[in-house]
Amino acid sequence: MRLSALLALAAIALPSSAAEAAQDPYSYAEPDKVRVRHADLDLALDFPARTIAGTVTLELDWREARADMPAVGTLSLDTRDLTIERVEALDDAGHAQALRYTLAAPDAELGSRLGIAAPARPARVRIAYRTAPTASGLQWLDRQQTADKQAPFLFSQSQSIHARSWIPLQDTPAVRFSYAARVRATQGITVLMSALRQPAQGEVQGFSQPQPIPSYLMAIAAGALAEQATSKRTAVWAEPSQVAAAAREFSDIEAMMRTTEQLYGPYRWGRYDMLVLPPSFPFGGMENPEMTFLTPTVIAGDKSLVSVVAHELAHSWSGNLVTSATWRDIWLNEGFTTYVENRIVEAVYGRTQADEEFVVAAGELRHKMQSLSENQQRLAPVPREVGADDALTDVAYVKGAWFLRFLEARFGRVVFDAYLRDYFDHYAFQSITTEQMLDYLRANLVDRHPGKVDWDQVEQWVYAPGLPESATLPAVPAFTAIDTARAAFLHGTLGAAALPGGDWNTHEWLYFLDHLPEAPTLAQVQALDAAWSLSRSSNAEIGMRWLPRAIRAGDSSAWPAARAYMLRIGRMKLTLPVYRAFASTPAGLAYAETAYAAHQAEYHPLTRQAIEKVLRKAHAQPEATP
Ligand code: BES
Ligand code: ZN
Repeated sequence: MRLSALLALAAIALPSSAAEAAQDPYSYAEPDKVRVRHADLDLALDFPARTIAGTVTLELDWREARADMPAVGTLSLDTRDLTIERVEALDDAGHAQALRYTLAAPDAELGSRLGIAAPARPARVRIAYRTAPTASGLQWLDRQQTADKQAPFLFSQSQSIHARSWIPLQDTPAVRFSYAARVRATQGITVLMSALRQPAQGEVQGFSQPQPIPSYLMAIAAGALAEQATSKRTAVWAEPSQVAAAAREFSDIEAMMRTTEQLYGPYRWGRYDMLVLPPSFPFGGMENPEMTFLTPTVIAGDKSLVSVVAHELAHSWSGNLVTSATWRDIWLNEGFTTYVENRIVEAVYGRTQADEEFVVAAGELRHKMQSLSENQQRLAPVPREVGADDALTDVAYVKGAWFLRFLEARFGRVVFDAYLRDYFDHYAFQSITTEQMLDYLRANLVDRHPGKVDWDQVEQWVYAPGLPESATLPAVPAFTAIDTARAAFLHGTLGAAALPGGDWNTHEWLYFLDHLPEAPTLAQVQALDAAWSLSRSSNAEIGMRWLPRAIRAGDSSAWPAARAYMLRIGRMKLTLPVYRAFASTPAGLAYAETAYAAHQAEYHPLTRQAIEKVLRKAHAQPEATP
């Protein structure tokens, strides 16, 4: 089918300018009327009550009144499970005047619209509020749930639309604002935010984020934390017993930063610090500015999983500097970042490792693509069909990065690197749509170097489902040898112990495991485990690929290891495949449910939701192979 025909159809539903993007379907904000420019937070952490309480003062930019707009100002904000105690307008002298407001009944996905009547269009509005103990964007841990058991712990995860569960704000990536915060916490608790730390004043710790950031980058963490420097401008934060191992694992961070700066221009955020969270952190990493949050599962002891750090660092350019204006455009964050991540890995750890990592990711993408709808296979999907987080499949990450690799190959590194650097400069501190990215691409790369790429090809990458034929992969000789060895093993012509696994690095193991059948035979699983102790691997990425296969093969001797794994690790990408494998048989489902019932309180709210969905689905369709 002609792509232009497809696009003509899609264009009706797609936002084509930043103004239209302002209509974010996942937010009640009305940024074409009014925008938050700065937020000033005064908060107190109450660990026993599991609440954050205090005020946020929003500095507002009211837009020129348009003919179709009522003259009276209304400020429409996003909230979820917040208790609103007071709303006031502040004048220049700081005098407060109470404002009327209504908190709408909650929508399950979006939360509650907070509508504030602001007839005089005040420059500042102050909201006094408190969070619910069940806030979807926060996890409160008892001290027993931490590594050192010294103090309780709190952390936020705002992406995609959970900032609204701990701050009333315009929770859309189309709006950017700077912030300052003062946070009161009891002695012995260190508070960190996605901001630069200011000197503490007694029990109050101060923060300043001078750059305009989108709301999903609002972040807070608090606990008994220690800091270890990894260079002048970088450090690792973790519970005291973890900090030395973390600093060793991430010791290449300064080299990573220099590489990225050489490629794409100066790091614009001052410091780059990393916080290692408790194991219940639901993601691998989160690019909170100045304070990347990381799962402890990346501390493998041998730096084999540090590409996660390269990824979060890369977001300092792709994502935090140039931000996707809507969740439908999220591939502008994740695809560009996955590309940059691989360039960092190549520069710091060599071409072979970079190629291996990309080929592993591409294999996963091809596999997962089979179970995605056509719309989900598009880099820029037609919005509204999916939830805010559902645009975040491997498509955004790996197909996005693959598209940039395609451009790099066609235009050559020298031209493409310079182009990308200019792109980051051009859109720095802006939130943009796919179409704005394409405008810049066309004018500054494709039209300037005619004959390299047809515009139709670009549109196919961005708007068509599946992968274009121009998607090629680098040859990885080690993987070819592994394919041969795997085939011989599966044929029964090579014993498990005779596999050359002793020579394989982690990525080579991942490649070997990824292309085993989903449910190997019991004999195959037992032979591999006997030879290579895979069930006991301490590398979480190996466990995620091995344990589900052992379960599906019917090897109940792997159950206790799988149970320990899924209770130890709250990172959704790792723990959910184990739950899914258990859920594929009635006995496994019962076993997983018992384990979950006893430990659900330890999981993050998002992980709980996701696990419960897997378990519910298994009950609904017991025959289905997930
Ligand atoms: N920004 C994402 C994490 C995220 C995405 C949180 C969507 C909530 C919604 C982060 O940069 C990321 O991509 N993390 C990956 C690691 C990466 C190496 C692929 C993860 O958590 O697995
Ligand atoms: Zn990312």
